[in-house]
Amino acid sequence: MIKVCNINDIKDNSMILVCIEKREIIIGKKDGRIVAFDPFCPHRHAYLHRGSFKDCNIVCPLHEFEFNLDTGKLVSIPAFYNEQREEWKKSGDLILYKTTIKDNCVYVDLKSLDREDEVSS
Ligand code: FES
Repeated sequence: MIKVCNINDIKDNSMILVCIEKREIIIGKKDGRIVAFDPFCPHRHAYLHRGSFKDCNIVCPLHEFEFNLDTGKLVSIPAFYNEQREEWKKSGDLILYKTTIKDNCVYVDLKSLDREDEVSS
């Protein structure tokens, strides 16, 4: 676990972009809960720190795809993209990172919460 910031450095329902060991990561606070995830949208690589939270999801600022912050899965595509080819709508999963709060500091585990990693370890 790597210490990233103080929990009070992040306003509720906002996110910051940090660099840890030459890797950019977004640290967000959604309704008081700290989340950490890759800054690049798995659809077409837009920077997600310019996006917004909606329910339990992060909404990408470019095409407004929504990814669940518990699973990383794509959960919603705006209806006006229904006419797009299926290939264009394909997306990977958002990479999530485990966080821990200790003494008001946010720690991040740079090993992603990839579900296959959990099964194989
Ligand atoms: S780049 Fe994020 S939804 Fe397309």
